[in-house]
Amino acid sequence: MDLACLYNRNFMDLGLKGRVAIVAASSQGIGRATAEGFAAEGCRVAMCARNRSTLDQASDKIREQYHTDVFAETLDVTDADAVHGFVAAVATKFGKVEICVTNAGGPPAKGFLAATIEDWRKAVDLNFLSTVYFAREVIPYMQRQRWGRIITLTSISTKQPVADLVLSNAVRAAVVGLVKSLANEFGKDGILVNNVGPGYTATDRLKELAKSRSAAQAKSEKEIFEAWAADAPLKRLGNPKEVADTIVWLASERASYITGQTILVDGGLYKGL
Ligand SMILES: NC(=O)c1ccc[n+]([C@@H]2O[C@H](COP(=O)([O-])OP(=O)(O)OC[C@H]3O[C@@H](n4cnc5c(N)ncnc54)[C@H](OP(=O)(O)O)[C@@H]3O)[C@@H](O)[C@H]2O)c1
Repeated sequence: MDLACLYNRNFMDLGLKGRVAIVAASSQGIGRATAEGFAAEGCRVAMCARNRSTLDQASDKIREQYHTDVFAETLDVTDADAVHGFVAAVATKFGKVEICVTNAGGPPAKGFLAATIEDWRKAVDLNFLSTVYFAREVIPYMQRQRWGRIITLTSISTKQPVADLVLSNAVRAAVVGLVKSLANEFGKDGILVNNVGPGYTATDRLKELAKSRSAAQAKSEKEIFEAWAADAPLKRLGNPKEVADTIVWLASERASYITGQTILVDGGLYKGL
């Protein structure tokens, strides 16, 4: 082995150049940072979200900055037919589907008795069934090429329930059950399935949560943000890019023996072992 060559390497080659990556719900926040992360590695990227103008702004910027193919389509991830059409369009445009990051907005912040049955149904649609829809569509492509990566973007709530987020705490656990089951069933086909759980990460979603907490606790939004930062051993909020970097690495050749896992990107917020 050429040791000099090993020691001289000052970067980690992720082996992602030319791969086709779908990132769901990716016009803003962590999804957007993830789409950008794959583009920076030379992947061809497919993005989606509901709002056309925000999606176009994000996809145009990524296309220009990284000189890579970016396909963007508006859709609601809770619409199974729309997800079917989107994945088929990605396969037609790029010839394959190799990486799929599932994502969606988060459910509203509520305690158990405040959450209606309709809230529960919506949370299941948004954060569980949307993951099922994407997995059902992408797995057959991945099986045919005997290579695939599915990464679900969920929350620290998959390991440690968050106060007033009972919908997220309960529904995201089902995603982890799905991730482990898919990892077991499709490992033989070269498909790796993992889950990434962010802690408090500076995005619009967090601003919304701070607003509802501030109203409920009669504290300013600034105090809410400071308390979240203080809770993590790293004493700050996360940056969407820090979550995105973990997702991109998990999709890469450098994480080729990792499947069925949940990895938290939370600055140490999770208090368990
Ligand atoms: N930020 C945090 O601190 C944090 C912590 C733990 C977990 N999470 C979870 O991580 C995920 C991403 O959070 P984020 O902070 O990046 O959120 P964000 O900044 O609010 O971005 C959400 C993205 O998802 C899209 N989206 C939302 N609902 C959609 C739908 N039904 N169909 C298609 N696209 C949809 C939005 O675009 P459109 O509105 O145009 O559709 C937007 O691009 C959420 O599930 C959130 O709960 C976040």
